[in-house]
Amino acid sequence: MRATAAEVLGIEVSLLQSGMGGVAGPELACAVSNAGAAGCAGGYKLVGDQLSAMLARLTSGTDRPVGVNLIPEVVGPDELDQQVAQVLDETPPQVHLSLFGLPGDAVFDRIAAAGRQLVVQVGTVDEGVRAAERGAVVVVQGIEAGGHLLGESSRDELVAELREKVPAACLVAAGGIGSPEEAGRALAAGADGVLLGTVFVATRESRAHAYFKEAITAADAVDTVITDVYEIGWPGRRHRVLATAVTSDPQQPAKFIGKTVVEGKPYLVPRFSSAVPTDATSGRIEEMAMYCGLSCAAVSGEPTAAEVVAEFARVLPPTGAEIEE
Ligand SMILES: Cc1cc2nc3c(=O)[nH]c(=O)nc-3n(C[C@H](O)[C@H](O)[C@H](O)COP(=O)(O)O)c2cc1C
Repeated sequence: MRATAAEVLGIEVSLLQSGMGGVAGPELACAVSNAGAAGCAGGYKLVGDQLSAMLARLTSGTDRPVGVNLIPEVVGPDELDQQVAQVLDETPPQVHLSLFGLPGDAVFDRIAAAGRQLVVQVGTVDEGVRAAERGAVVVVQGIEAGGHLLGESSRDELVAELREKVPAACLVAAGGIGSPEEAGRALAAGADGVLLGTVFVATRESRAHAYFKEAITAADAVDTVITDVYEIGWPGRRHRVLATAVTSDPQQPAKFIGKTVVEGKPYLVPRFSSAVPTDATSGRIEEMAMYCGLSCAAVSGEPTAAEVVAEFARVLPPTGAEIEE
């Protein structure tokens, strides 16, 4: 018998919310965790005072298990070390770390030594096996996913292959899950829980710009494209976004098209920036990076995070359930 994702993370429903940089602030993460699932705040490039301010809001908003997401390849090893140190120093033990892509061995060791749960998102079988061998909850990302893509396989194919290779691992399926029925398919393929990104972008507590939320609600799977054009700030990794005038004509000049504020600091947004449009962004929102998975087809309205958790809870394994190996 295997534990459910809920059991491993100390939550009630085997549902994880993706820690999306810019979009998933402490407000969304706490709302998800307070509803019984695992919320996660996007750490992205925050470090020092900016990261401390975010962590303070996160830890004052919930006493339940909640995560902080970091992206090793975006910040590099030194800054990642600093971010990890801050999370470990400034948050209580029920706060877990969530990483997009495998970190180096030293990071695995440090998080394990601190007694914190680690969640690692992967896109290939080999990476999944490595993360599982280091005791992480493995988020298995399929090509259906919104945002940056770690592999090339479809979600359930990858889940099934990994389940065979690491039968005892805690596997969480991600990519293209917009409805409880789709979550059910991922569980049938061998997942112990699911992670949702796009569905949570459209929630009331998300910090996504209103135009971005409405575009997701209106979109169908065919309105998304895999591209590499939004590369300023995060080069060299393909991403699934809503098709825009920039994805269809990437030859345009890389001039500034807007401005934004991140944790109190103002920034200009160039065309091709990897930054998502948030409620603090102004300018040509329709040209910015609106990461979006095939899951958008099932998204409607602007539900609260708690409504999303309740909707998916009916198909997801709770704490106390055991999964037949
Ligand atoms: C707007 C947006 C931003 C994202 N940002 C991050 C991020 O900062 N860190 C991360 O680990 N994953 C990020 N992701 C990817 C998700 O973790 C996940 O792979 C994806 O959302 C799953 O597919 P779905 O969007 O169809 O649910 C992002 C996804 C979206 C849609």
